[in-house]
Amino acid sequence: MTHAPRTVDAAAFREAMARFASGVTVVTARSARDGRLAGFTASAFSSLSLDPPLVLVCLDRRADSYRVFSEAEAMAVSVLAHGQHDLALHFASKGIDKFSGRALERGEATGLPLIPGALAHIECAMHDRLEGGDHVILVGRVLRAAVGEGEPLVHYNRAFGRFVRG
Ligand SMILES: Cc1cc2nc3c(=O)[nH]c(=O)nc-3n(C[C@H](O)[C@H](O)[C@H](O)COP(=O)(O)O)c2cc1C
Repeated sequence: MTHAPRTVDAAAFREAMARFASGVTVVTARSARDGRLAGFTASAFSSLSLDPPLVLVCLDRRADSYRVFSEAEAMAVSVLAHGQHDLALHFASKGIDKFSGRALERGEATGLPLIPGALAHIECAMHDRLEGGDHVILVGRVLRAAVGEGEPLVHYNRAFGRFVRG
């Protein structure tokens, strides 16, 4: 029996993906062309390879950050801790200066902004940019990884929450 190709209903796809609980990250980069900084909140973050050490982040091509990430030679990921959902919303906002008035750390490996108090910092060299439909898949080769203390910020069904063991 052959199956005719079918397309999922967009709302059903979104609803199903909203049932996937994830951590929340803030990813930053600097344009190698004009030095401009960009950063955005991302839950589409994953480890990709151990050897070489690679991670990936998916970025919407319509994001204002897209140009900077297309021109960047490095990116820095902060894994947010519970209690940092205000930062998640800040870096998900459009049309604001995301960096002024924020006490941010500078990454030792890349010099890029990192979120103080985050659960983990992962600094990367930009390794590849892959086509992913209306997103670009940013592949980073990990240069430095460091962990902090605390509980993770969890995103599930369009809401922030906490991790419960058990
Ligand atoms: C919890 C959460 C997770 C998000 N995950 C992603 C993601 O993985 N990829 C992405 O492109 N946008 C994601 N977004 C949306 C971006 O953060 C948002 O579009 C941001 O405004 C982009 O900023 P810009 O237009 O200034 O670049 C997420 C937003 C939230 C609140």
